[in-house]
Amino acid sequence: MHDGSAATAEPVFLCQAPERGLFGTLTVPGDKSVSHRALMLSSLVPARTTVSGLLDAGDVRATGAAMAALGAQIDWPAGDRASVIGPSELTGRAEPLDLGNSGTGMRLLCGLLAGQGVGATLTGDASLRSRPMNRIVNPLRQMGARIETAAEGRAPLAIAGEQPLTGLRYVMPMASAQLKSALLLAGLGATGETSVQEPAPTRDHSESMLAGFGVTLRREPDGWVHLAGPQVLRSPGHIEVPGDFSSAAFFLVAGSIVPESDILLKNVGINPTRRGLLDLLLEMGARIDLVDKRESGGEQVADLRVRSAPLEGIDVGPDRVPLMIDEFPVFFVAAALAKGRTRVTGAEELRVKESDRLAVMAAGLRTLGVDLKESTDGMEIQGSEGFQGGQVHGRHDHRCAMAFAIAGLRAAGEVRIASVRNVATSFPSFRPALNELGGRVEQIDERD
Ligand code: S3P
Repeated sequence: MHDGSAATAEPVFLCQAPERGLFGTLTVPGDKSVSHRALMLSSLVPARTTVSGLLDAGDVRATGAAMAALGAQIDWPAGDRASVIGPSELTGRAEPLDLGNSGTGMRLLCGLLAGQGVGATLTGDASLRSRPMNRIVNPLRQMGARIETAAEGRAPLAIAGEQPLTGLRYVMPMASAQLKSALLLAGLGATGETSVQEPAPTRDHSESMLAGFGVTLRREPDGWVHLAGPQVLRSPGHIEVPGDFSSAAFFLVAGSIVPESDILLKNVGINPTRRGLLDLLLEMGARIDLVDKRESGGEQVADLRVRSAPLEGIDVGPDRVPLMIDEFPVFFVAAALAKGRTRVTGAEELRVKESDRLAVMAAGLRTLGVDLKESTDGMEIQGSEGFQGGQVHGRHDHRCAMAFAIAGLRAAGEVRIASVRNVATSFPSFRPALNELGGRVEQIDERD
């Protein structure tokens, strides 16, 4: 994990355009958001919950280690199957819990622990320690939590134990599923009703999984979610995690932009609050078929067949942003190859992700020859026929690194991507998976 201190060997991707189209079948790894929630919620129940399809990657491992340190018995050998038995009560910890690179891990766990009255300090890597936490800390304090932060509301977050919480009625200032989830998880242990309203729909995995654990909550069409606390969870017995749409996204774009491609992505979660990129690509002219739509573990899944197709530029406004929030890095790559102009507005949240994704993608795409204008809340991109080769920087952000590797599939020269180690936080098998389909990405180690 990059901590911004000692010089370590840092992997670099070297990418070449393939000579033929991408071809084959891929099962993408489990959904990161659902995996975090599965480990957290099953740790609240003193009975066995088994999980399959779990994402075995850095972010989720960090959450698993944190829940184990708090008293959960987690049996999770390498792979996608785990068994979790929660303690009768989570126990507070004096030593900090390290959530690594994961905003979801830190924000959701902070809410959950505050609600359960469990004292702990949550920390993370340099990226996570630079991200805004006041968005969750302030409303949690309004509920009665005592949480200390570093300067400007950054992590580490020190949560005092044994502070009783009361429900809160809260209009969220930004569309963030992490904020909504942190407050609902806090509400599980609070007295009275916790109600949150989101300004636009965001991913609803917490609501669905809480319902699966027997929690009563009410969702209204105007964006309010109500949960009367305290509530006790019941194990659903087993949780099936769908394939991660956000990992599939790289291949939806890859298959669309590399001529003569035909890829089948198996068992991908297509929850309407996550599939914004799919709908957008279809509007841009992509050739993607949803095969065998079904339900699995309370989530919609399908196999996605993607074949190459010319794309048209499009406008993306604020309402669509939360539905594809993690897909912008690779969407910008698609937009750079679409005919005409693409304009994204209302996406200022991208500046506070694992990196400032607007700045990192704008810098890298410019290096690869793209004509674009970055604004405070988005980007305007003029499409062209392909990229030029060049050296770009992933800035320790997994999704930017993978997006640049997808750009390399259509580059006239080599694309060299520095700082790709964090690909392992969400998609450790990304490079072999892409190469298996016909990509040409090599990895070498370089001194930082
Ligand atoms: C997530 C919500 C999103 C997303 C993140 C995962 C979640 O963050 O970017 O990768 O699991 O709830 P915000 O809700 O803060 O936008």
